[in-house]
Amino acid sequence: MSGVFQMANYNGGSYVVIEGKREAQNFFIIMKGKLRTQKEMQYAGEEASQVLGPGDFFGVESAMSGHSRIETVVALSDCSLIVVNHDQFGLLIQKNTPVAMKIIRSFSVKLRSFDNTITRLSFRNAVEEDPQHLFEVAEFWFNQKRFNHAAYGFQKYLQWCPTGEKVSQAKMRLQNMNKPMVAPAVPESNINRTFKEDEMVFAENEPGRELYIIQSGRVKITKMVNGQEVMLAVLQPGDIFGEMALLDNKPRSASAIIAEDATMLAINKTNFEGMVKAQPQLATRLITILSERIWMAYRQLSNLMITDPLGRLFDTLLTLAEKNHVKIGPKASHNFDIGGKDLLKMVGFDEKKDERYLMDLLKNRWMRLDEGKLICLDLQELEKQVAFHKKKVSMDRKREKAAAR
Ligand code: CMP
Repeated sequence: MSGVFQMANYNGGSYVVIEGKREAQNFFIIMKGKLRTQKEMQYAGEEASQVLGPGDFFGVESAMSGHSRIETVVALSDCSLIVVNHDQFGLLIQKNTPVAMKIIRSFSVKLRSFDNTITRLSFRNAVEEDPQHLFEVAEFWFNQKRFNHAAYGFQKYLQWCPTGEKVSQAKMRLQNMNKPMVAPAVPESNINRTFKEDEMVFAENEPGRELYIIQSGRVKITKMVNGQEVMLAVLQPGDIFGEMALLDNKPRSASAIIAEDATMLAINKTNFEGMVKAQPQLATRLITILSERIWMAYRQLSNLMITDPLGRLFDTLLTLAEKNHVKIGPKASHNFDIGGKDLLKMVGFDEKKDERYLMDLLKNRWMRLDEGKLICLDLQELEKQVAFHKKKVSMDRKREKAAAR
């Protein structure tokens, strides 16, 4: 395989990738030697670093999303690495499908673990995906008078938890709504599916065996957080969803609801690998989407580690700018498409109680609110502030550790 890709040798002690470095282009597969990963911000319980060896890979998230590196990797011994450019992922699939599949699989496991940690750390209700929770999700929709969604949820609860505690309640709800006890069967052999607006593709906590590629229409991805339904994304033609349940055999992490009449391709486990091989562009798209989400999840996670509330606001703005691939430089400005309240909400702050942090943010000459939208007039200044707050956290950590010794 190494023939078509570039090879690189590093001496022990050298840095191969450095956290924060922008516009990453390449990722690496280890042929020989050992390397260690390290991250600037660690959350409690996270391994401080990881040792990688032959067959392992690193730098994929940043290379495939085109964002900054999210970890530093240093060679522990002399090593040989295969260097894969971000536009060679398709080639990697053709030359070595098992490695490409390993990357894709490991990514959805990583994403789920990030998601769960973020949920746990933000003091939201961290509940493992479990079909038993289908009842609560359905009950939420029922209370909102969204009877089609509620019926789907209760039907799926009955299907997956036939001896569950809430079976009689679920049946009663369905009877009251005048809905059948069983959802209409979907012919799984047919990969072409059509959906009407407002229909459910699947509900959060439902076991799933397929991923979907949208061909027309739009799909909303929503999730229950602290008893509220949060919109995670609105997906469009070309987008892929439902890959997490397929790849790591867990129930659906979110619900998919049709926002506009849609047609899609449904791919199950059996034909997934064949499809990846036959259509490398599909797998490339999937890995790009997963990379983007992992990058974002990592940034959200490191944001939670910042202790100063103002530091967290700065960091969220910087992440938003980087997500949009805005060039960061002296006097570079950026109009954020969000207002102050949106920013507070994104960080998980209270709109009223925490408004003072917004005031503090706007005391900086290079921050402005224009027609309700936030503007930064100097992204380099913003970046400096973020670096300062992160440095402070890591110094406090070091001091705490030293004091504990
Ligand atoms: P799965 O867990 O199978 O089912 C729900 C799907 O929603 C999930 O796979 C992803 O495809 C998608 N999904 C989960 N989280 C997000 C997110 N934050 N943004 C966009 N899509 C998501």
